[in-house]
Amino acid sequence: MDVDWLMVVFRWMHILAAITAVGATIFMRQALGPAVATLSADQQAALHDAVRKRWALYVHLSIGFLLLSGFYNFIATLRGSEFPDGSKYHMLFGIKFLLALAIFFIASMLVGRSEASSRFRQRREFWLTLNVVLAVVLVCISGIMRFLPRTPKAAAEPPAATAWLETNSLR
Ligand code: HEM
Repeated sequence: MDVDWLMVVFRWMHILAAITAVGATIFMRQALGPAVATLSADQQAALHDAVRKRWALYVHLSIGFLLLSGFYNFIATLRGSEFPDGSKYHMLFGIKFLLALAIFFIASMLVGRSEASSRFRQRREFWLTLNVVLAVVLVCISGIMRFLPRTPKAAAEPPAATAWLETNSLR
């Protein structure tokens, strides 16, 4: 079985980070937020602060993993496949990337420590709703990209990182 394990590891990284970030955003918007709203103002502030402190690390890790694995996926796809003239793949990638930057910004502000982040969180419900909508659109675009027609290059070059490992006899 000839499996490109580096490709598989980056795919795991991308999917795990995506489900962690998107799933948690939906949970916070639909379950945590409404549940916390039933508490007193002091309890709400304390609980939101406790959640924010614990969740910040996962937001930053997810962003890092998504960027790393996303660029790897993209470069590997371009090196290994040819798209027919008029393919929408590159345009969809551009839209997806801009959506991802907006999502990362909102998610970072929702867990940030700065004064600006605190002011941003005064409209927490609005920003969470927006991030859920953007994330759903982004995942739908990713699904379309996956099934856009492409042909493997005849002598497909290995992805850059794989080639580097091979050149340096690490693989
Ligand atoms: C919130 C952020 C993101 C989410 C939720 C997300 C989600 C996903 C999902 C679910 C897939 C798999 C689609 C499938 O197999 O059906 C995917 C694929 C992909 N993602 Fe992301 N992604 C995000 C950010 C990024 C970023 C920042 C990049 C680029 C830097 C990127 C580049 C890619 C590429 C190139 C693919 C492969 C598309 C193909 O099949 O040709 N993603 N993403």
